[in-house]
Amino acid sequence: MAVSPSEKTVGVAGLGTMGAGIAEVCLRAGFNVRAYEPSESLLHGGQASIEASLGKAVKRGKATAQERDDALARLLPTTSLADFADCHAVLEAVTEDLDVKARLIAQFDEAIDADCLIATNTSALSVTAIAGASAHPERVVGLHFFNPAQVLPLVEIVRTDLASDVAIERAQRLVEEMGKTPVHCGDTPGFIVNRILIPLLNDAVRALDEGTADPASIDAAMTLGTNWPIGPLALIDLIGIDVQVHASDALWNAYRETRFAPPPRLRRMIDAGHLGRKSGRGFFEYETR
Ligand SMILES: NC(=O)c1ccc[n+]([C@@H]2O[C@H](COP(=O)([O-])OP(=O)(O)OC[C@H]3O[C@@H](n4cnc5c(N)ncnc54)[C@H](O)[C@@H]3O)[C@@H](O)[C@H]2O)c1
Repeated sequence: MAVSPSEKTVGVAGLGTMGAGIAEVCLRAGFNVRAYEPSESLLHGGQASIEASLGKAVKRGKATAQERDDALARLLPTTSLADFADCHAVLEAVTEDLDVKARLIAQFDEAIDADCLIATNTSALSVTAIAGASAHPERVVGLHFFNPAQVLPLVEIVRTDLASDVAIERAQRLVEEMGKTPVHCGDTPGFIVNRILIPLLNDAVRALDEGTADPASIDAAMTLGTNWPIGPLALIDLIGIDVQVHASDALWNAYRETRFAPPPRLRRMIDAGHLGRKSGRGFFEYETR
């Protein structure tokens, strides 16, 4: 079940924010990539964002035009999972919904080689529950990339009680071949980063609600006093207020500890359409394109 350098073909299902980023990482690392969306229009959107992002990499001097062209030549966009037949690993980055992911994992079983590794990029669902949708849960692992996948080096490798040692070893090698840095963890809610980060960010909102300081002062305190590269409120704006609430709800439901619960202010912001950077307004204001 080892991935040799000549066997570098991976499938990516779902070409939204994360899937397009993961596909680009794989392309730039020299993999052949089969990129799947269920309809032509969704596929075109995903393909366009991969092309645009590679174009930006060239403009910024992070890749040459030749490297971009070579990467795109290794990309096979498809609306058929039959094209995953020669993949040695498939990664799903579809909508964060257990039913959607479970249906897709069952479809993978029909389409892929018996020897193929299956990875899910879920942030908040149980990897064990997703693995349970496969007839071979021992070959399913969590590979949790961070946004933007092209930039952030970390991938959390999530091991369920059902996963085989071989699957974990293959996941480790795959992540390294992608040029990313793996950290191993168990299938506990939030894994490592979100388990620690989400309640911490919620605490920054609570400090604001308690009248401790205004948003700019809270962020200045954390950047200048603890060397964070970005303040906690600006980070929530970057993540998206809706995404922060979704992640908080998942952790609250799992742990039932109040520090995980989303502060009510965040729900009011969602109701007002203030979703952070993507809507032009969150804790701070942004120019929208
Ligand atoms: N956005 C983040 O910051 C982030 C970070 C880490 C992990 N994640 C996880 O990555 C996954 C994707 O998140 P996203 O933010 O990229 O979502 P997104 O909404 O941007 O993209 C989801 C994509 O999945 C596609 N899709 C839906 N059903 C499909 C199916 N059956 N087959 C193939 N494609 C299908 C949609 O068309 C869409 O392009 C989620 O599990 C999320 O929890 C997100």
